[in-house]
Formats: sequence, C-alpha cells, structure tokens
Amino acid sequence: MTSHNPAPLPLEQQAALGSGADFWSTKEVGDVPSLVLTDGPHGVRRQVGATDHLGLAGSEPATCFPPAVGLGQSWDARLAGEVGAALGVESRALGVDVLLGPGINIKRDPRCGRNFEYFSEDPYLSGRLAASWVRGLQGTGVGASLKHFAANNTEHDRMRSSSDIAPRPLREIYLRAFQHVVQTAQPWTVMCSYNRINGTYASENHWLLTQVLRDEWGFDGVVVSDWGAVQDRVKAVAAGLDLEMPGNGGTADRQVVEAVEAEELDADVVARAAARVVALAAKAEAGRAAPVPAFDAEAHHALARQVAARCVVLLKNEPVDERTVLPLDTARSLAVIGEFARNPRYQGGGSSHVNPTRVDIPLDEIRALAGGADVGYAAGYTTDGSGDAAALRDEAVGAAAAADTAVVFLGLAAHQESEGFDREHIELPAEQLELLAEVVRAQPRTVVVLSHGGVLRLGPVAESAPAVLDGALLGQAGGGALADVLYGRVNPSARLTETVPVRIQDTPAFLDFPGEHGHVAYGEGLFVGHRWYDARDIAVAFPFGHGLSYTSFAYADLELSADAEGITARVTVTNTGEVAGREVVQFYVAKPDSSVVRPPQELKGHASVDLAPGESERLSVLLDRADLAYWDIRGDRWVVEGGTYEVRAAASSRDIRATGTVEVTGDALVLPLTLDSTLGEVMATPGAAEALGALMPMPQVAADNDVLGVDMARMMASIPVGRLLAFAGGAVTPADLDKLLTQLNSAQA
Ligand code: GLC
Repeated sequence: MTSHNPAPLPLEQQAALGSGADFWSTKEVGDVPSLVLTDGPHGVRRQVGATDHLGLAGSEPATCFPPAVGLGQSWDARLAGEVGAALGVESRALGVDVLLGPGINIKRDPRCGRNFEYFSEDPYLSGRLAASWVRGLQGTGVGASLKHFAANNTEHDRMRSSSDIAPRPLREIYLRAFQHVVQTAQPWTVMCSYNRINGTYASENHWLLTQVLRDEWGFDGVVVSDWGAVQDRVKAVAAGLDLEMPGNGGTADRQVVEAVEAEELDADVVARAAARVVALAAKAEAGRAAPVPAFDAEAHHALARQVAARCVVLLKNEPVDERTVLPLDTARSLAVIGEFARNPRYQGGGSSHVNPTRVDIPLDEIRALAGGADVGYAAGYTTDGSGDAAALRDEAVGAAAAADTAVVFLGLAAHQESEGFDREHIELPAEQLELLAEVVRAQPRTVVVLSHGGVLRLGPVAESAPAVLDGALLGQAGGGALADVLYGRVNPSARLTETVPVRIQDTPAFLDFPGEHGHVAYGEGLFVGHRWYDARDIAVAFPFGHGLSYTSFAYADLELSADAEGITARVTVTNTGEVAGREVVQFYVAKPDSSVVRPPQELKGHASVDLAPGESERLSVLLDRADLAYWDIRGDRWVVEGGTYEVRAAASSRDIRATGTVEVTGDALVLPLTLDSTLGEVMATPGAAEALGALMPMPQVAADNDVLGVDMARMMASIPVGRLLAFAGGAVTPADLDKLLTQLNSAQA
C-alpha cells in the first residue's frame, strides 16, 4: 500500500473496511491489504487451512507460555515484555498481524470461568504487566488487542448481560488498567467486550469508545469488536467502533452505506473509522517488513520454562523433623502422585487454547532431576470420575509411605473451568482432598503442587500438607519449571495476584455473582479483591501478594519523599538466608483521613530484587502521583487529595515490613457553586458569608440552640441554597441568588 495521502475512498469501500472478510482476516480493499488477527494472550492460535465460520479448526503448533494467571504471579513486567516479544516472533512466523491479547479484565469473583486469562484482582498490577507485554509484542511489528474493553468480569450471559457499576469503581478499578496501557503502551487495537456497561453494549457505547477511550485517554488506534459482539453495526460505528469481527458477508457494510445515504449516520464517522483501519494496515505492513528473529521452537520452549519457574508461588514450606520439605533432596526417594503429574493441566479452555510445540511431563522432568533417587508414581485419582477411587487412593498411599517424600499434584481439570461459563464453587474435587488427607497421614513429608486457573478454597490443603506450591497454569514447559522449583534449581519468588479466601462466602461479589436476568450489580463498589478483605478485616487463607522463598529477606530504612512526579519510596532489602533469591517488594498506600471513601490500602508500586545470601540493595521506587488520585464524581475528573499519605513496604498485603508517612500537594478542586450547593458549601467559600448575609439576612442560630432538639446550625448547613428561597418570603428572587453565585464562582475561579 503506498504511503501517499490516498484519495478518499468511496463510501462502499469505507464501509467494507469496517468488517472482516472472514473469521480471522479483514478485507483487501483497493491497495489496503487484508490483515490477519488471531488469538491469543499466551500463544498464537493460527488456524490451519481454510478458516471455518466459527474458528474452531486446529491450529498451527506454537509455544504455549504461561497463561496470565501464571505470568501475573511473576509480578515481573520485564518478563511479561519478553513473553510479548516471543509471541511477536511467532506471530510474524505464522503470518499474524494483530495478536488478540492481553486480557486484562479484573478478577472480580474467583468463580469467573475466564480468570485464568487475566492477570490480577488489582488494576495497578494488571496495567503494569499488560503495558510491558504490549510493548514487547509491538516491538516485533505485531499489533496487540487490549481486551475485553470493558467490565467483562463474568462468563455467564456475557453476550447480553449489563455490568452495572458506579462511576468510581468503574474508573478506579475496571477501566484503570486499560487507561494505563493505552496511555503508556499505545496498543494498535482495543477490543470491545460483549457485555453492556450500565445498560449500553460496549460495542455501541459512545461514552466508552469515544469520550473516554479517545477524547480523554488519547487512543488513536482501531477499536475492534469481540467476535460477534456487534448487535447493531450502524450504532456501533456511530459510537466509535471501527472494525466488526468476524465479517458477516457484507450485510452490515450495506447497512452502513444505507444509513449514511438516509442521513442516519454521519459520513465523516464512517470515513474516520475506515481511515483508522487503513492506518492499522500501514502499521501492519511496516511490521511485516521489520527485521525479526526466526521462530526457534526449542529456544522458546526454554524461555517458557524460565518464565514458568518465575510464576510458581511457594505458599507454605513448614519443617518436618526439623527439615523443611522443600527444596527436595536428590538423595532421598520420592513418590509422585496425581494424574496431573503425567497429564499436566497447563492452559485454559476456549479461544486462547494453543496447540503447543511440545509439553513437559512433570513426572519425567522430576525424574530427570532426581539424581539417583528412586521416584515412584501413582495416579491417585482420575479427572473424569472413572476408575476405583478407593483402589487408586490405596495405591497412592502405599507409594507415599514407601518413599521419603511425597509430591501430590492436585487441581482442576479443563472441563471444570473455561471461557464461556463460570464455576459454581471454588472447591477441589472431593476425591483429591480425601487422597491428600490419607497420603499425609501415611507420609508427613508431603508437598502439594496445584494446577488451576481460578482460585480454590485451600484450607484443607494448607491444614494438612507442610509444603504447598501454587503452579496456577504454567504453559507447556510447566512440568520442567515445577521440577526446577521442587529441586531448588530455581528459588521460587512468585506472588499471588488474587486473594485466596477462606471460603467463597467471604468474597466481595458473593451476593452479586454471576448476576441474573441480564444484569450484574457490582455491589461491592471499589472493594474488589484485597480492598474488600482489608476493609472488612476478613481473614484470608493466603493474602494478595503472598509468596515465600527458600531464603528470607529483611527490610530496613524506609524513606519517603514527594514531588510533582509522585512519592519516591526508598527501602533497603537484605537476603538474610542461606541461598540466593528474589524478593518482590510491594508498596501499599493508605490515606486514613481521606475526604472520600477509600480502601484501607492500595497497591501503588512494586519492585523485584535478586540478592545473594547476606547481600543488601537499596531500592528506589516511584509511586506515580496519578495513581494516588480518586475519581471525583462531582467534577467528573481525577483528583489527588493533598495531605498526609501512609506508605507501607510489604512482602504481601498482609505482611507489612515498614511504614512511613509523607506530605503530598493536592489538586485544587474548585467546584462551581449552584443552587444545589448546600449552605455549608457556599458559606465555606471566601466572601460568601458577607455576600449572602447582605442578600438574605441569615437567622443567627446559636450553636447550642436546642429549640427543636437538634443541632440547628448543622441542619441549616445541609440545605441546598436554592431551597432557602422558600424561607425568604419572596424577599429574594432566584435571579438574585444566581447573580450572587456567579459572583462567588468568578471570585474563586
Ligand atoms: C472470543 C473471546 C476473545 C477472542 C475472540 C476470538 O469469544 O472473547 O477473547 O479473542 O473471541 O477468538
């Protein structure tokens, strides 16, 4: 396609550019080339052969990296960027121009079937990881598609249901990560979600797609629909949607043309959408020409193993007979138990499903590192309810008793959680829990390894097993990564990105999930994830940010300073243990005296540091000033409050190691006075008392006046000033009051 400034395309061609040619590609229109868009966030799902109309055929082999539930646990934006770059190399090798990821919806409820594809319950962490992933991918000349915009936090009735969210949680929680990625990483495309937001489909939500995304955030790329998310193409184009996928054979294109001809749709809007698709094609063409390494499957598998090892959380590691169970000792025999040890669960179901180049088998990888030690195996259970549970259990218990240590793989099978439906509960299968209890009774030195996409109730596991590794979903190299962590070749450093509750009834959305009759009420408001458990002071099984190490770390000398950039937090971290390790230092910010409702603390910064035994490093982390802001619904804008902020350096949201305070200069928030402003608000404005007194002599009410048995002064202060006219006996007119308010507003402007 030439780079000259093309003559404006005819309306029919503009409309044709606005929808796909088939399931995965856009139309070739004039000298605008067809582009290929395909999944997914942790591996390229490039369909082989002709695309079917549902995109369900097999796909080319590609590296299955850890899904976001795993990658997120690394808390490492650099690593996420490396994965993005590797996915870009594979996209280029497979002829993909836009890779449909990352998925950054907030994990509002543990039961959401698609949580495995999302990073966290926290918008700060989701945004940092996703922005780096996008930069890594787009650095290879392949576009990202930030999804699902927005508030797609349940799979139940996802194509119709309305996410009903108040303005502050919508801005501060559900849009916040999208805003960070759009403004710091400039994704080529944003994918609008299926659902409605406060009653309006995302695909035809002008406030969302144009006012917020483009006018406020400055997004200049293409808004592409989720596949089948457009229910009215003309409304969608008017709202700011540029590309409907998949194509529907031109029907909707004709509707666009007819709407313009009938003057029901502005021709400029269609031209603008087409121009964005043309610009995307230009980016893609330049990307196709950009130099990029050849796809080396073995090198990417090795990278996937390194990445996966950084995604394994050590939840617990208690000593048995004065010796911690982990890392394993190669001199001692082992019993590996569980179906997932030979048939690993490493990715989730649905559109993100990858055809891996190869898959590590945990049992084989453990045997490869076991030195000469004997490594027995027993299935222990089946994942499809077949087999004799008692016999399988007895066999496993026998193997565990005969070995020095048992490693039990537990988790959820693919059919128990997926895109397209939500879970009903967060329990592990009963037969797995029964097996664990029996194994631990026979073999106190037992390690549990978990494979799952959504959070589980872990009480029974944590109470019985002295050591627990959370492998979440680790991708095709997860088996090797787990062996590396089990034997201490890699010291675990990952951290939970989602709170593990004691029980599902304790969770924020328990009463409002998954919604009904087309509506999901986000009743918990701002208080999602750790915000909820902290505000309600609810005990949790494992807190947000939790993760242990084979070594230990101390924090000292927290120093804070603030300037126009934000708060700079400095803290010294020391490795106080016997082996090298990596610490993820988290910074939570609190403002107990805030003038608005806030969670007790919020994650606003983090940093990782690798330290040898005895080594110290002084970290300096900037907590962005913009991240201190709350969304003010009166002024419809972000506001940073002035005053004292508390900053906590922590090893998890519940493991605070050092605390300090710092003064921050706030934003001047000048709210125009109106007839609805209360007398108290007006009187707080300089000069108001005199001006109002001159206009309307106010009854002097002594503070201790108790004629009506009430604090009259406070009651008067809450009256909207326009209502005072009713008490002025006609002596004051609305025009008098308007004039006064105009005077006061101009004085405070
Ligand atoms: C799916 C998903 C989306 C995916 C698209 C294409 O329904 O919601 O994440 O990229 O369709 O497969």
